[in-house]
Amino acid sequence: MKLTISALAIVLICSIVWSCKPTKTFTQQEISLIPQVQKMTLGQSSFQFTQNTVLSVQNNEQQQIAEKFSNLFVKSAGWKPKISTDCSERSNQILFKSDATLGAEGYLIESSTNRIEITAAGSAGFFYATQTLRQLLPAQLESSQLQDKIDWLVPTISITDSPAFKWRGYMLDVSRHFFPKEDILQLIDYLAVHKINTLHLHLVDDQGWRIEIKKYPKLTTLGAWRVDHEDKPWNSRPKQVAGEKATNGGFYTQADIREMVAYAQSRYINIVPEIEMPAHVTAALSAYPQYSCTGGPFTVLPGGVWPITDIYCAGKDSTFLFLQDILTEVMELFPSKYIHIGGDEATKKEWDKCPKCKKRIKEEGLKNSGELQSYFIKRIEKFINSKDRILLGWDEILEGGLPPKATVMSWRGTQGGIDAAKQGHDVVMTPVNPCYFDFYQGPKEEEPLAIGGFNPLQKVYEYDLIPKELDSESAKHILGAQANLWTEYVSTFKHAQYMTFPRVAAMAEVLWSPKDVRNWDDFYLRIRRFTKRYDQMGINYAKSAFKPAVNPVAPEKK
Ligand code: ACM
Ligand code: ZN
Repeated sequence: MKLTISALAIVLICSIVWSCKPTKTFTQQEISLIPQVQKMTLGQSSFQFTQNTVLSVQNNEQQQIAEKFSNLFVKSAGWKPKISTDCSERSNQILFKSDATLGAEGYLIESSTNRIEITAAGSAGFFYATQTLRQLLPAQLESSQLQDKIDWLVPTISITDSPAFKWRGYMLDVSRHFFPKEDILQLIDYLAVHKINTLHLHLVDDQGWRIEIKKYPKLTTLGAWRVDHEDKPWNSRPKQVAGEKATNGGFYTQADIREMVAYAQSRYINIVPEIEMPAHVTAALSAYPQYSCTGGPFTVLPGGVWPITDIYCAGKDSTFLFLQDILTEVMELFPSKYIHIGGDEATKKEWDKCPKCKKRIKEEGLKNSGELQSYFIKRIEKFINSKDRILLGWDEILEGGLPPKATVMSWRGTQGGIDAAKQGHDVVMTPVNPCYFDFYQGPKEEEPLAIGGFNPLQKVYEYDLIPKELDSESAKHILGAQANLWTEYVSTFKHAQYMTFPRVAAMAEVLWSPKDVRNWDDFYLRIRRFTKRYDQMGINYAKSAFKPAVNPVAPEKK
């Protein structure tokens, strides 16, 4: 009898607590998902996250994804949802369910007042589902301060989602200015929220070599450091003179690289390393001048150089052995299927004069130094392919004939991408307009100094990356697109964020969301609300991006 009364009391208390549970009917305007999901039906009620919420996962990969999601609550809510491998249905549950028919990155979310089911084929899909759930929760979730007055509600909702493109990229130039590992880890977190899946690191240029190579230590003891002329304009910085110390720079150790790669992988981001050749290599030649045509000497450049004539000698076999050694270490560090070898902007003045290069042209039956560049890249491609990787290069690699299996990054407009796709090669679109994020995004007078150009938010948002010139068969070769942040004029991570956000949100939507859900006016409202999340995350986004897009403000330099 006693037992029955206690049981009744428990039922009564539970139902009182249950009926007092906060619920809410969300309006469309309260939901700001970026990138926009493929399909969504909003219900009338809500699901509340509490410290008794349980994330039920089926395996270790899901557990790690659930762990990351759950950890979002620690600082802001002061507790975290639990994780269990018991997948039997219960109340107050986030249930992970597998469905092999969904695409590699697709997912479904079905939420009721009592349970949220997330369904995906693989771990990437589960990860993206948790990013969407995160965005459905109040922006205060992202705070590092305790938020004790918040009900952690998400709407009852039904979502079907998967990406439009598989290459959703962002490039950071870490050569012109170096950004330490901690910045890169933070950047990876920020990009992952936007469902960006590729981080291209431009590790090599005339102004700094940024990756430790064990076999060639001088690449970083010398090549990573330049004289500090940061106080002078980029294009009028004097070269290092004898006795002057090189104090500006930095590099990633191999341990740093392993950490960044693993951190990115667990956020479903692939890091693509770029090792420039045959040009943009003054930093490498400063350390190892024997791989140039002239023998040097060279110093790491503190600022701009044009044209780029100090390049690797294509006549010396030792150059190729040097590069193969470097690439071997690079490929051991980066699991990326794609290895970017640059290939852009080589002026072949030295090749035209160099006896070894001239001999190579003759022996290989090449017409000129233009074809020598093609020989160079094809030889490197053979090596990269022998390690089961794919060579990726800027669109100059089309000149003199594309290497047979290469993928092209089309940057000088779209023609390179069109030509490559028509020849049956895969392409990543990154035309300067609108993909170069070193361009201005607001009125020049109000903006920090930039390289030129004008790529405001709306222009990025309205980018249609499949060129009209391609038929549907060739269009399949367009893997996606990428925003590129070159950093000649960007020396701090705060400034890099400013150039990146919110434009990367527009790029993310171009690459993820189907055309029929993309709408500038709607995006504009969503991104404005989304900045509340940026504020909580501490992202330094450009408020100027929200000014109406006016006429171009500066001549384009690129
Ligand atoms: C490039 O902007 N030179 C690829
Ligand atoms: Zn040469």
